[in-house]
Amino acid sequence: MPESLYIPNTTDRKARYEALFPQIKALIEDETDEIANMANIAAALKETFGFFWVGFYLVKENQLVLGPFQGPIACTRIAFNRGVCGYCYTNRQTVIVPDVEQFPGHIACSSASKSEIVVPVFTSEGNIKAVLDVDSNVLADFSEVDRTYLEQLVSFM
Ligand code: SME
Repeated sequence: MPESLYIPNTTDRKARYEALFPQIKALIEDETDEIANMANIAAALKETFGFFWVGFYLVKENQLVLGPFQGPIACTRIAFNRGVCGYCYTNRQTVIVPDVEQFPGHIACSSASKSEIVVPVFTSEGNIKAVLDVDSNVLADFSEVDRTYLEQLVSFM
């Protein structure tokens, strides 16, 4: 395992994802514990991009329960029919929200969060086992680039 994460000296998000992925693969390939892997993935995303909040909600007890994350404290349980995370779970697809205040039912864990992307994490049987939630303190911070790379990232898990 490397001593620290290598982050290329560019703000280009695509270039940073490209540099990050082989490092994440190396971090998780020999580790079977999913919580440990989610913890390192959340940390690596936070460190690479400086997002306001990065974390996983796990499908448990018929709801979404807070899992490994990096950032300020967050709501612990989200019903499947609530918030952006619930919308992602119910519709089984990535959701990009440019302005969380415009999203009906958005759960405001922090008023500093302005935009977000939530990506479903599938089991090999095609069930959703978790969602990856990334929040930014900047409006409209997420694009199709993030969708493409984050969907690829969760497919490593
Ligand atoms: N943004 C989420 C709530 C979780 S936090 O922002 C960490 C939502 O509305 O689903």
